[in-house]
Order: sequence, then C-alpha cells, then structure tokens
Amino acid sequence: MKVSELLNIVNTLVPLEYAFEDDYVGITIGSEQSEVNGTVVGHELEKSLLKYCNDKNINTVISYHPPSFKKVLEEDGTETMIPEIITKEFMDNQINVITLHTAQDVCEAGNADTLVEIFNLKNTKTFAHTLGNFGAGRIGEIEGLSNDEFKKLVEYKLNTNSIRTNEYFYKLKEINKIAILPGSGTQFIDEILEEVDVFVTGDISHRYLLKADDANIGLLQVGHITTEIPGMKKFVENLNKALNQELEYLYKDFYE
Ligand SMILES: [Fe+2]
Repeated sequence: MKVSELLNIVNTLVPLEYAFEDDYVGITIGSEQSEVNGTVVGHELEKSLLKYCNDKNINTVISYHPPSFKKVLEEDGTETMIPEIITKEFMDNQINVITLHTAQDVCEAGNADTLVEIFNLKNTKTFAHTLGNFGAGRIGEIEGLSNDEFKKLVEYKLNTNSIRTNEYFYKLKEINKIAILPGSGTQFIDEILEEVDVFVTGDISHRYLLKADDANIGLLQVGHITTEIPGMKKFVENLNKALNQELEYLYKDFYE
C-alpha cells in the first residue's frame, strides 16, 4: 500500500479538512508515493517511537500531534520552518508521518466526543469551532457533584492524578455544567465563561487561573495528553478494523 492509500483510509475515519485552518495535518513528513512497509500510531514524535520504527522496520507513523518546527525569521523578512531535532531524525530515517491533530479532536467519535461519552454529558453543545458545526470543545450537564466528588471523578475516568485547579474551584458548592476541551484549550475560555461551572482542559497558564477566579468559574487542569488518549485509543481500534491489522499505539504514559 502507498502512503496515499493509507491517507485515504485515515481520511474516512478522521476527515482532515475539519482541522483548524492553521493546523498542520495530513502528510507532515515524507511522500504520498512512498510504499508503506509497516505502520504504527504514535501520540507524537519522540525517541522511543523512532526506536520502535527502526527495530521493527516500520516506515510510516500516524501521529496525533504534528511534528515540531521552529519558525525562523530570515534577514529578508521571510519565515522559514526549521525542523526540531526529533523531527529531523524522523526525516533522516525516511519515516512518513500522517498527522491527525485537531481533525481528530473535532470529528465524530473523536477526542471531544469520547470525553462526552466518558463523562456521560447531557444536552451537549459544541464550542471552539473549526468548520461548520465541527469544534474541539464540548459543554454539557452532569448529575450534580461537589467539587471534591468531581475532582475524584476526573481522576478516575481519565486515569490521572496530576490535577491542578484555580482557587474558585473550591468555592463551588455544586457542579452541574462543565466544558471540556482535549489538549490545551484556555484560549477558548471566553466562549464559555458565563455558561458553565467548571472548565476542564490541559496546559493552563497562571493568568487564566486568575481570570477564571475573577469570572467565578472553576478551572481544572489535567495532563495535556490525558484528554487526548481515550479518543485516540478509539481511533486506533477503528483503524485496525478498517485495515484488518493490529497496529500499536505508543505514547509516554508518564504524561498521562
Ligand atoms: Fe495536544
């Protein structure tokens, strides 16, 4: 099979056109003409994934996060994208990479929908839109829980104990309505400020904790990939069915 054929199959499960416009998805390294001699799914490009590829003679990776590049401003004012070291290593090893990223967040049964299912959210609504009705965030109702109960529920459901909250989270008497966005979503906080009791996402910076305190909304931070892993596991299951294969899905569980 050529990379282009694999890309077509991936595209039927995760339509790449619904990613955020400035997102780097599709074939991010390599060529669609390249022959696939083995495939693995990896959350992102890192050394242990490269070792796995080399050990098993696998030349094609389906990654969730895009490869990292550094933007460099040239003297003439143009911008060049320079691959980070790990990206360069995948290039030098002639590995093809197909990247899903926000297309997987927003798609049907993708990362956001999987979180809806995990937390059994009712009367859901989408925010952080990409195209049309597609978006990376979900708002929904839960059965009223205390802040402590809710925190425990998140730990249990997402298999994590690296939770951080803002101060206001502990002033909440009852949590009935939440917003959740896989990965890192604080840039969308203005869309949900008046609407929910708590916003769950990753990579929350200090100024947003303060902003949420002032706006009387609870913020609950989980590990960045914690909210992305459950949907990706589902993707791998569906991909394996479509390909009739048993592909592995590799991620660093230290960051779960
Ligand atoms: Fe992410």
